Amino acid sequence: MRRGSGQAGNPPAAGQQAEPAISSPSSANRLVVWHSDLAAWLDRLGWLRTSSDWLTAVLGPVRERHQDNLVLELLHGGRWVGHPLHPALSDLPIGLWAGVMVLDAADRDPAPRRGLDAAGMLSAAGILAAGVTALTGLNDWAVSEDQDRRVGLFHGLLNTVALGLQGASLGTRMAGHRSTARALGAASLTVTAAAGYLGGHLVFTKGVMVNRVAWASGPRRWTRVLQEADLPDDSATAVEAEGRQILLYRHRGSLYAIDNICSHAGGLLSRGPVADLTVTCPLHGSRFALADGCVRRGPASQPQPVLPTRIRNGWIEVRGSQPAPRRPANERTQP
Ligand code: FES
Repeated sequence: MRRGSGQAGNPPAAGQQAEPAISSPSSANRLVVWHSDLAAWLDRLGWLRTSSDWLTAVLGPVRERHQDNLVLELLHGGRWVGHPLHPALSDLPIGLWAGVMVLDAADRDPAPRRGLDAAGMLSAAGILAAGVTALTGLNDWAVSEDQDRRVGLFHGLLNTVALGLQGASLGTRMAGHRSTARALGAASLTVTAAAGYLGGHLVFTKGVMVNRVAWASGPRRWTRVLQEADLPDDSATAVEAEGRQILLYRHRGSLYAIDNICSHAGGLLSRGPVADLTVTCPLHGSRFALADGCVRRGPASQPQPVLPTRIRNGWIEVRGSQPAPRRPANERTQP
């Protein structure tokens, strides 16, 4: 057996080390980085940047003017639902349009039919659901950040194309051209799947509308964060304890401490105004009660964690979540 490069008919020259036969790491990597490459490629599209900036300039002031509108907050899902509405609603058109394909696949009747059959009804219901879902998506899009907006806009454009294809499919179905309707319906669902993938990228990779303080814990023990004399009354002050960013506030002798990272998208609450013991996030205007961290206004749907405070020897101390109680050793050995 010949030792060499692994290629037939090409032995290594005398004195040369044969190169090990390994596959190119770049080709292997490509299989696992294509999704981030795709997002980066989308982010470089000039027309997408221009469109995103233009839409931001149009929608931003409108949103700011109507920040207190309950309908806008409900479209986010907000404090009443406890998590964003858009991802849940997006299941409806996908499910309904997948149902259309199943009915079409099961339909063996070759006779041309006009009007609205069962598959047509699912298609129409999906179109209605897609309209409401698009509204919630646009509302969430308006409170997202730069790169997320561009990927989000492309996600929305794909969904618009899918909606158009589904509309065309429904029209041709009602006109009796079922083969064309099926082809258009399949194309619509394919584009919807691609859009859904980008939506998943935004949530699972970029954390859009994901609770930014879900893992906040600690410090495990009472920890000094600021000398009492250094905390002015009625002024939000940012401090840090074991890497956790905390907002301190004192009003009429009462101390308040909540997580300083906004649960919506990571805005620094200490940079926002405080009125009536409620802090407003400077990024998208969510409001949180300092006393219990409750959401007073969206887009945030999750409250801010509250930390206990105390004053010892002139120092303000805070404590995070308690460590889990240790189980006795004899319990730990039992199943
Ligand atoms: S980061 Fe969006 S409201 Fe705070």
